[in-house]
Amino acid sequence: MSIHAIVLAAGKGTRMRSTRPKVLHPAAGKPLLGWVLDAISGVDADRIAVVVGHGSDEVTAELPDGVESVLQEPQLGTGHAVRIALEHLDGIDPNDTILVAYGDTPLVSAQHYRRLLDVAPGHAVVLTTVTPTPEPFGRIIRDGEDRIVGIVERDDCTPEQAALTEGNGGIYAFRAADLGEALDRIEDHNAQGELYLTDTVGILADSGLAMTSVAADPIEALGVNSQEELSVAARYLRRRINRDLMESGVVIDDPERTHVDAGVVVDPGAVLRPGVYLRGSSRVGAGAQVGPDVTCIDSVIGSDSLVWYAVVREADIGSDCDVGPYTSLRPGTVLEDGSKAGSFVEIKKSTVGAGAKVPHLSYIGDASIGAGANIGAGAITCNYDGFNKYPTEIGAGANIGSDTMLVAPVKIGDGAFTGAGSVISEDVEADALSLERSPQKHIPGYARKRRDENKLSED
Ligand code: UD1
Ligand code: CA
Repeated sequence: MSIHAIVLAAGKGTRMRSTRPKVLHPAAGKPLLGWVLDAISGVDADRIAVVVGHGSDEVTAELPDGVESVLQEPQLGTGHAVRIALEHLDGIDPNDTILVAYGDTPLVSAQHYRRLLDVAPGHAVVLTTVTPTPEPFGRIIRDGEDRIVGIVERDDCTPEQAALTEGNGGIYAFRAADLGEALDRIEDHNAQGELYLTDTVGILADSGLAMTSVAADPIEALGVNSQEELSVAARYLRRRINRDLMESGVVIDDPERTHVDAGVVVDPGAVLRPGVYLRGSSRVGAGAQVGPDVTCIDSVIGSDSLVWYAVVREADIGSDCDVGPYTSLRPGTVLEDGSKAGSFVEIKKSTVGAGAKVPHLSYIGDASIGAGANIGAGAITCNYDGFNKYPTEIGAGANIGSDTMLVAPVKIGDGAFTGAGSVISEDVEADALSLERSPQKHIPGYARKRRDENKLSED
């Protein structure tokens, strides 16, 4: 007996008020549908079919290998969507189990799917949740003996039904033949004029089939239909990620203010301070201290490095580095081990060699800085002439004086010095000092004379 999973993702998501298909909205760094498919990958499904409709090309493009897409056009309701998926999944044995999930419930875990499948043989099973605020859910109707006899959508509820506190979590397991027969009998005589999957539950109960439920926490069953619900789901997913990180030995000062995307790796022993956003494919090594207030996108922060009050994008920070406060590391920046990028420093597409320092107020672009070099305060690379970008090479152990303008293309040899305030547009040989300054003039008494003149005119 096989399991086949059907995930519904064809709806418009009108209540999101967004041009993006609802199931592609990210929560904690992963699209809603990605969370659902990842959880389902934890059960041993033979085939997984995602029903697509609105934004079908975009949604299909995001599907992982091995997941099939089925087009539902037009979208006539959740029951219609499952019918189309069943037609697509031909060759199903009548006794196979069909797992149905919605693409907008990112908090349902693999464990819930497994629990549902454990009780499925011989039953139709639905995930339910009891909550004092059942507003977003269809209501579960039970008879005097506590048996499930139907599900009524909120817009179709009588006042008594609306007051029921058990909601439909929207995950189901059915015997294939039972589901197919019930789907043939659903109708669209309801408030929305749609073919509801939920009506199959009443039809199956009427035919005497055993119906059962698996309970979930209301938060776990949360479906995302609006931006507000998206923010709630994201908050709980973040909590889960942070809890797992802390269990593994990561120190998190304030989990509510620490945002780690699903794909990020943080090694045990790292410390995350408040206001940290670790996004995309970022990685943080053991002993690193990140934050307060760091946004780090698709970047690596090596072990034992300190990065605080910084924006780091597609950059690679080695071990024992020192970054911040107020530093912008842009794509292509490589900080080798033990190097420093300090206050009000911007670095783009450049390598800072091991132990080299860019401590204050610099722009470094298209440059390579050798090991142990020091870049004085305010020194910058002038890499752009308004048309093209040019490289700057600074040798190992070089000492770039404060406020040096390095007009690229230009090379500074190993161990060379440049004088403070120089505009360096020619290569400097190793171990030389290069200066470019006008001679300093001295005019004794000038200041006093000006003061006296001005005093006279005031009198
Ligand atoms: C649905 C359930 C409700 C349950 C809630 C749980 C129905 C009729 N109602 O309501 O009982 O409490 O989920 O979250 O099933 N979709 C399609 N094709 C369609 C219509 C919808 O693929 O023609 C997809 C949507 O993209 C979405 C999912 O089905 O991912 C659920 O649709 P949605 O409109 O969000 O249903 P709810 O009103 O939340
Ligand atoms: Ca929904």
